[in-house]
Amino acid sequence: MSAPAPTPPHPSGDVVIRTIAMPADANANGDIFGGWLISQMDLGGAILARGTAHGRVTTAAVDGMSFIRPVNVGDVVTCYAKLLGVGRTSMKVRVEAWVQRYADSAQLHVTEGTFVYVAIDTHGKPQPVNR
Ligand SMILES: CC(C)(COP(=O)(O)OP(=O)(O)OC[C@H]1O[C@@H](n2cnc3c(N)ncnc32)[C@H](O)[C@@H]1OP(=O)(O)O)[C@@H](O)C(=O)NCCC(=O)NCCS
Repeated sequence: MSAPAPTPPHPSGDVVIRTIAMPADANANGDIFGGWLISQMDLGGAILARGTAHGRVTTAAVDGMSFIRPVNVGDVVTCYAKLLGVGRTSMKVRVEAWVQRYADSAQLHVTEGTFVYVAIDTHGKPQPVNR
């Protein structure tokens, strides 16, 4: 079993989502489902991409997703997003999730990944990013 990846001292990027992990999002062990966390990160990254494209976006790919620490029921989960690059129709966004546990003011880095969003028109077809 390998040790957790080194934690960056501070979150990187803008706050895009802040929520509380609820019991309905937990698995039988009492930990939060990875899929729930990915969906929060995807939503957060999409908020940044939508603001960048000034229009609709869709998720094209998710790369390098690392689950570093578990998320517990009751944790305050904050997602931070940072624009890494813009192509013709696509945008690459780095998303980090950090948590604050009960009775602890420290933020812990729990997850990170890189999401690719594509700007789309009303028919769902790629269109140039309109910055
Ligand atoms: C994303 C989607 C619109 C791309 O459509 P497409 O016809 O394949 O478009 P293109 O091949 O012209 O690619 C468009 C851009 O996306 C990028 N792209 C497409 N697939 C990609 C992938 N898997 N990884 C990284 N970039 C990707 C291309 O490089 C291109 O970028 P650029 O214009 O900046 O150079 C289409 O595949 C789609 O609708 N996918 C489903 C999206 C979805 O439902 N998401 C929610 C998942 S539940």
